[in-house]
Amino acid sequence: MNKLLDGRAGIITGAASGIGRAAAILFAQEGAKVIVSDVNDEMGNETVELVRKEGGEAYYFHCDVANEENVKELVDFAIEKFGKLDWAYNNAGVIPFENALIHETHTDLFRKVLDINIMGVYYCMKYEIPHMLEAGGSIVNCCSINSVRVTRGTSSYGTSKYGEYGLTQCAALDYGKLNIRINAVGPGPTMTPMLEASASAHPEVITALKATIPDGRVAEAVELANAALFLLSDLGNHINGQLVLVDGGQSCNM
Ligand SMILES: NC(=O)c1ccc[n+]([C@@H]2O[C@H](COP(=O)([O-])OP(=O)(O)OC[C@H]3O[C@@H](n4cnc5c(N)ncnc54)[C@H](O)[C@@H]3O)[C@@H](O)[C@H]2O)c1
Repeated sequence: MNKLLDGRAGIITGAASGIGRAAAILFAQEGAKVIVSDVNDEMGNETVELVRKEGGEAYYFHCDVANEENVKELVDFAIEKFGKLDWAYNNAGVIPFENALIHETHTDLFRKVLDINIMGVYYCMKYEIPHMLEAGGSIVNCCSINSVRVTRGTSSYGTSKYGEYGLTQCAALDYGKLNIRINAVGPGPTMTPMLEASASAHPEVITALKATIPDGRVAEAVELANAALFLLSDLGNHINGQLVLVDGGQSCNM
């Protein structure tokens, strides 16, 4: 039986860690050729090693998604390596631990979050899409449960993730007729280094968080990767402009 991404070439941003790393390993297991990209070169190269250990094909490229020139070079690198771009998982993002009211926020940090979480996804799609115009393609952006529900004290993150979802829908509308599907996954709380840091510092926060999730647990990174795989593969044909929440039903409780 053919694998879900057999021979298909693509890019994952923010693939040094968490959900992006889990996606790199899973997609490669499903036959994909993967460009692993991040700002953390050491851990990015570790992801490449993990993929290769599974017999997959992967290469690392340093890219800060908030830097347009970096993103252009990333896409050029993918084309140089594979000669095509079939899919992209625009996953890189930051959650600031500012937890502040708007009048207390730091403008530089607010802008940085938008630069990475919105402009980063815009740059990625801007340079990925031209390589999909001829043969078609599929893109998944990593949004959040905070793309449809906000939480207190997280204005920069909530703004960025709502914006990212809006951008995803605009892109889906514009490129659907050109055979490029563009969707999003929306993690609820997911056990990645992002959450692990706060879990060890404030275990009570995690306990309270779990109580809001109907199945009483946070997601594993691979559960997000599974949803992205479904959307990127032919299983997701005819799904366009959608946000698939992987939140254990938490959004029903907010
Ligand atoms: N973990 C959660 O609970 C959760 C919840 C909702 C949404 N998300 C989203 O999931 C995505 C992945 O996060 P994760 O939980 O795997 O976190 P993570 O911190 O484990 O991974 C994020 C990766 O992005 C990289 N990165 C950060 N800034 C970057 C930049 N400017 N350019 C390129 N790479 C950059 C980091 O180095 C890191 O490797 C993010 O978009 C995040 O907003 C996560």
